[in-house]
Formats: sequence, C-alpha cells, structure tokens
Amino acid sequence: MTEPPVLTIDGPSGSGKGTVAARVAEKLGWHVLDSGALYRLTALAARRAGVDFADHAAVAEIARKLPVRFEGGKVFLDGEDVSLAIRTETAGNDASKVAAIPEVRAALLDWQRGYARQPGLVADGRDMGTKVFPDAPVKIFLDASAEERARRRYKQLKEKGIDVNLAGLIAEIEERDRRDRNRSVAPLVPADDALIIDSTAMNVDEVVDLVLRAVRKALPDVGKGQ
Ligand code: DC
Repeated sequence: MTEPPVLTIDGPSGSGKGTVAARVAEKLGWHVLDSGALYRLTALAARRAGVDFADHAAVAEIARKLPVRFEGGKVFLDGEDVSLAIRTETAGNDASKVAAIPEVRAALLDWQRGYARQPGLVADGRDMGTKVFPDAPVKIFLDASAEERARRRYKQLKEKGIDVNLAGLIAEIEERDRRDRNRSVAPLVPADDALIIDSTAMNVDEVVDLVLRAVRKALPDVGKGQ
C-alpha cells in the first residue's frame, strides 16, 4: 500500500492557510487536517477543567485524551459543539501558549500523522512540513505582513458585527508571532524544501492556483485515474 501524499501548508496566523487548505483540498478531493484546532481544543479543555497551563503534565494528559469528534464541518468536545468557542481570540492565544509545551506537541504527534489517508491530505499548521510530515512531497510556507494579516482579521470580525481596534489586533498578531517563532520546540519556520509564498498582495484564488501548480509539478499523477 503506497503512502498517501501529503501537502503541508504552514505559516503564521492570518496568512490565509485555513482558507487555502480547504479550497485546495476540495479541488483535489483530499482530506484536511486543521492542526491548530487540536491546540485550540486542548487549551479550551484545559481551561474548562481548571487546569493551570503551567502544569505541563496535566495539559499533556488532556491533549492525549481529548474527547473530540469532527462531524459535518463542526467540532464537538465531550459531545458539545465548540466550533465557535475555539475560534475566539482568547482561544487562539491560549492555543499558542499550550502549543509551546513540548509534552503537548508530543501527545498530538501520532494523532496528527494518523490523518494521512488516501487519496491525500492537506495539513495546515505551523510545523507540518518541519516536524509532523517532514517527508511530504509538497510543502508550502504561506506568509503575509503582520499589518495585512491584522487587516484581514479586522474585516472578518467587522463582518461578524464584532467591534475591534486595528492597532490592538496588529499588536496581538505580532505578540503571537513572536511566541510561535521563538519557542524552543517546533518554532514557526519554513522547512528547507518549502515553497515560500508571500500573500500580502495576493488574493485567495491566486494563492490556490500557485499551490495547485506546485502539487501538479511534484505529483504529476494526482487526479489521474482516481
Ligand atoms: O492556526 P491556528 O491559529 O488555529 O493555531 C492556533 C495556535 O496553535 C497558534 O498560535 C500556534 C499553535 N499551533 C502550533 O503550534 N502548531 C500547529 N501545527 C498549529 C497551531
């Protein structure tokens, strides 16, 4: 049985990874792994259980036993729909903190690798190409300036009727970047063999096109005979 092909898409928050990963997966008919959701779920479950993030062993235990179910585009934690709860700014900041705990990353490693299934997987995160799927045949690192990422987030929140301050968002994004890029385990860096795409001045369709071209170049048989 041949290994399922994996396309990794890493990058900082707000670079558009999630949207691009979903669109590319749809075009290819592949599965998607939103690895950030696993860190967000771990943080939410820890917070709800009253576990201190400084207690690394306890947070890792929660990550190992997460009672999570993905169904119909929704995420359930212990049977409760938490699809929206894990998307708040607080959940994102908490996720960035638990993601810096080595035992948590180790607890989630095999689970993430288990998502690689035929006909293929698009894996979205921070360390997909460097740590989780280092042998992936196609790796993308999607970047954009902090200002542009904050502007995109601002627009999304405004559309949802949530009032936010742009300068505050830029500061938060820069702070999260610093934590994700400078942590000692699995820091946010492009894999040596990743294609780096700066999407600051690009729209989603242009990025999706570039990524699909990279997939077809590395895997000329994708989509044929399936
Ligand atoms: O992609 P996201 O915003 O949902 O991720 C939330 C946090 O989880 C982010 O600040 C960093 C962390 N994360 C990680 O460390 N490794 C991953 N593979 C995915 C996310």
